[in-house]
Amino acid sequence: MPKRIFSGIQPSGVLHLGNYLGAIKSWVALQEKPARNASHSDAGGYDPIFCVVDLHAITVHQKPDELRQKTLEVAKTYLAAGIDPEKSLIFVQSHVPEHAELAWILNTITKIPELERMIQFKDKSSKNRQNINAGLFSYPVLMAADILLYDTNLVPVGEDQLQHVEMARTLARRFNSLFRETFVVPEPFIVKEGMRIMGLDDPKKKMSKSALSEYNYISLTDTPEKIREKIKKSVTDSGKEIKYSADKPAIKNLINIYALLDNAKPKEIVESYQGKGYAEFKKDLAEVVVGFLEPFQEKYNNIEDREVLRILEEGREKAKKMAEEKMEKIREKIGLL
Ligand code: TYM
Repeated sequence: MPKRIFSGIQPSGVLHLGNYLGAIKSWVALQEKPARNASHSDAGGYDPIFCVVDLHAITVHQKPDELRQKTLEVAKTYLAAGIDPEKSLIFVQSHVPEHAELAWILNTITKIPELERMIQFKDKSSKNRQNINAGLFSYPVLMAADILLYDTNLVPVGEDQLQHVEMARTLARRFNSLFRETFVVPEPFIVKEGMRIMGLDDPKKKMSKSALSEYNYISLTDTPEKIREKIKKSVTDSGKEIKYSADKPAIKNLINIYALLDNAKPKEIVESYQGKGYAEFKKDLAEVVVGFLEPFQEKYNNIEDREVLRILEEGREKAKKMAEEKMEKIREKIGLL
């Protein structure tokens, strides 16, 4: 059996290099191992679904026109980054209402203290004091519904989503023990160097869509000049050496970005910068980032909205069929007439 992959991104804020390196890059790699040509270790290959999770985005207030626009932009980003609609299913979460239905059902087996422990909830509610809404609180339950609805085996995400994937595992097991075997218990899929790309202005905090300063992140739409400026200004550690170690978090983060974009190992990058300083390293890193983002942006700008809408409609039909079949079984299990 091919392994089902499911992941998603919220259409809110700017998409940045952390989203690409922590999530989308590994999606593209997984997609390239199709079921038919699977090697022995991946027996069965992968069957990927990538979703634009608009219902998650509205847990923070969004302007309707901007939300519509962002939803298209995130789908376009998937395509420009190499997600191929022939190999992967791409759709918008709200186009398949079964996500919300399953989330409601899972809410009834979720304990309030479990949700109170969620780091992202604590973090988002401290930043959004005026709008600590019930949706924000039960956000991980909707995410569990996304994952469980499609019998997902692997969830490729950055480290900040691990606690949510764990919640999905807990709910799958709980439902299975209450109502008999129904859900696959999913596993997270993490790429070590990319799982936590840190802010360029503060290597102790992750690169974030909602960061106050634009010098925190490199947006996937930044111009070459902006990228060069942001990398030049990025915080560095004390000392001069290009060293990959936990006590040099700023340079470690930059090495991770370099290594991932250059498809190299951090060790190889460190070796090639022996005896060289931060300035030279940063200058080269900026060119590596520009070299990656320029062709990405060219592809992005050449994809028409019409084409994206067509792909999303195709995705909706396929996802809806799968979700309807699964929901039938779930409704029956819990005794809905
Ligand atoms: P979101 O939209 O915040 O982020 C999308 C993906 O980007 C990863 N990411 C990072 N990775 C490395 N370093 C960073 N600095 C960084 N910042 C973000 C995130 O880990 C994520 O993989 N709840 C999810 C969306 C979601 C989802 C799902 C994911 C909804 N349903 C089902 C997987 C499966 C979220 O808010 O991601």
